[in-house]
Amino acid sequence: MSFLTDKKILLGITGSIAAYKVADWLRALRREGAKVTVVMTESACRFINPLTMAALSGNPVHTGMFAAEAPETIPHINLAREHDLLLIAPASAQTIARLAHGLADNLLATVALASAGPIIVCPAMNSVMFQHPATQANLATIKSYGYLVLDPDNGKMACDEEGPGRLTDWENARQAILSVFAPQDLAGEHILITAGPTREALDPARFLSNPSTGKMGYALAATAKQRGAMVTLISGPTALTVPPGIKCIQVTSATEMHTQVMTCLETATIIVKAAAVADYRPAEPQLHKTKKGPASLALPLIANPDILKELGERRGESSDFPLLIGFAAESHDHLKEGARKLKEKNLDLIVINDLGGTDTGFATDTNRVTLLSRNGTQEDLPLLSKEETAHRIWEAVGRLRVGH
Ligand SMILES: Cc1cc2nc3c(=O)[nH]c(=O)nc-3n(C[C@H](O)[C@H](O)[C@H](O)COP(=O)(O)O)c2cc1C
Repeated sequence: MSFLTDKKILLGITGSIAAYKVADWLRALRREGAKVTVVMTESACRFINPLTMAALSGNPVHTGMFAAEAPETIPHINLAREHDLLLIAPASAQTIARLAHGLADNLLATVALASAGPIIVCPAMNSVMFQHPATQANLATIKSYGYLVLDPDNGKMACDEEGPGRLTDWENARQAILSVFAPQDLAGEHILITAGPTREALDPARFLSNPSTGKMGYALAATAKQRGAMVTLISGPTALTVPPGIKCIQVTSATEMHTQVMTCLETATIIVKAAAVADYRPAEPQLHKTKKGPASLALPLIANPDILKELGERRGESSDFPLLIGFAAESHDHLKEGARKLKEKNLDLIVINDLGGTDTGFATDTNRVTLLSRNGTQEDLPLLSKEETAHRIWEAVGRLRVGH
């Protein structure tokens, strides 16, 4: 279940060329279970037909202050009261100016003024318009009212100019929307998360690695941010986009990951080691590409630093060390192996992946894990998306924080 299930979202669309993009946002919101009602300005109706938004939302679209079928219900007040979130996307320079100055000369601006709940504003306009001091001052003003402004992306625009002004992408907006509804139980935490595989060079053209895609670690990073944490992600090579608002340090090898973890350790309050770190590396990486030669070749390996074990040792009996959460990906005896690692590496919680399934572990979008805690609790989670699994891990961390 998503935090968006049954949430009532009022989508305000204004007169920007990017209006067509939010038709897809609306579908994505509904797929996650949100109930969406649309308000469109007069200009927005010139860019996209209200009929499209009515069909996609399954609700009548509100276009004018005095056009309501039941005016006795005072539509702008009802719309403001009945919704959990007002999402204005795309937000034109004109509408942003209205919001900044408290104008109430159309339905959307009036609803915004009458809303006591959260408001997210996603500007989209030509980059010169966006960078104009008037627009920037208006954005600063609405931020001071508590509106969450999602900065536009840089890039080429419909007007052929390049710069900031493109409507932020759906994934950014989705993360911000989820943050509105997620419990803020990780506020004040600084979470250090490792993710992805490491690559151990044999020569300039080859490396030893594993099939980790980083999806679990990135899901942990995104969900921790949604729940209010400050997140530093130390990532091995992946094809994933770093979730918004997260500091990411890219590394390649286990030794680099080790150095970065030890450097970032100081300020962390929770450490989650979700990376699939190579246990060994070639003892003598070659400077030049190895040529094809004999029929067989022995490859001497040496052990990489065991980052988790070292963290557990550093922690010792200390009570003010960050909470330590490890992952164990096992192909057999996974519970027994997980319990051994929990103890040997001095962890608070271990997340055990059974590599045996086709829909769990490496490269999948779903996972089925068991959580073992230092307090002796065992929780077998069902098959869930990696995002939902991540939320369940944070709930378990919350229980650890209060000693359960
Ligand atoms: C083709 C075209 C594209 C436009 N694109 C944008 C845009 O992306 N962003 C913007 O702020 N204004 C844009 N405008 C100008 C707005 O539509 C105009 O300022 C309008 O008054 C906005 O009204 P509203 O905020 O009530 O929707 C565009 C106008 C035209 C004709």
